[in-house]
Amino acid sequence: MEIDGARIWVTGASAGIGAALARELADRGARVAISARNADQLAEVAGGRMTVVPVDVTDRAATVAAGAAVRAALGGIDVVVANAGTWSGFHVEPWESDRFAEHLQINVMGAVHTFEAVVPQMLAEGRGRLVGVASLAGYRGVPGSEAYNAGKAALISLLESLRGSLAPRGVVVQTVNPGFVTTRMTERNRFPMPFKVEADDAARTIADGIARDRAEIAFPLPMAVLMKAARLVPTRAWTSLTAAMARRGLDGGPGRRAG
Ligand SMILES: NC(=O)c1ccc[n+]([C@@H]2O[C@H](COP(=O)([O-])OP(=O)(O)OC[C@H]3O[C@@H](n4cnc5c(N)ncnc54)[C@H](OP(=O)(O)O)[C@@H]3O)[C@@H](O)[C@H]2O)c1
Repeated sequence: MEIDGARIWVTGASAGIGAALARELADRGARVAISARNADQLAEVAGGRMTVVPVDVTDRAATVAAGAAVRAALGGIDVVVANAGTWSGFHVEPWESDRFAEHLQINVMGAVHTFEAVVPQMLAEGRGRLVGVASLAGYRGVPGSEAYNAGKAALISLLESLRGSLAPRGVVVQTVNPGFVTTRMTERNRFPMPFKVEADDAARTIADGIARDRAEIAFPLPMAVLMKAARLVPTRAWTSLTAAMARRGLDGGPGRRAG
């Protein structure tokens, strides 16, 4: 697709990958609208050249209204990037149902609400594009990241299903699966993050992948290959591997956060 001139709405764009991607897309000539909860940070990212629509994507009605506000400001929406997300470690003792629910609310339902805000219009027009930012962490379960990995696995599956559903209706669906990226999400991690890339590099890779119509944008390549290989490891061997990680305190998907 042609990014120059496209009307693109990016959620989770007050920081990290979303902020870098919004800037990259604007640099490539897109008309960009950005959302997240922190209005001040959004204004800073926008730098006067993007539409700012603050919203909490866990609020369904507010997110649908935000989509309408973006559509009014840009005159339509060609692409939505559901990028808003959170990460924190999961503890089995005491059991953390609330933390699990929070991950599903932001990382899964947040994307569902964002898509609800744009899909009716895209179906009516017979064109459009949904981009979901999941994670290579969604490929397999690891101890300490139960909530994050389960949510990202759900998002990967949702996007895959939608790709088939919406293709006959002219709507393209793309899945972004990053490995480790330097953002506030990973800054407090306590263990090695192999092949970690900077947010600006991630943004360029994602923008290139969108432009090239790639169904899956998985990066960086060595981490993507490693995680694709991990999917082939038999369950028994995966259990031995991850139990050993947990025993050594190396549990956590894209990095275990303190607390
Ligand atoms: N960093 C990595 O290594 C990595 C790896 C794989 C995938 N990812 C995924 O990439 C995406 C971006 O992550 P990041 O690393 O850039 O993290 P980040 O720096 O923590 O940024 C997260 C963004 O999401 C927004 N957000 C969080 N909860 C929200 C909510 N309820 N409503 C609206 N916006 C919300 C935050 O803004 P406010 O706080 O202002 O709302 C912020 O703009 C996430 O989906 C993450 O899972 C990251």
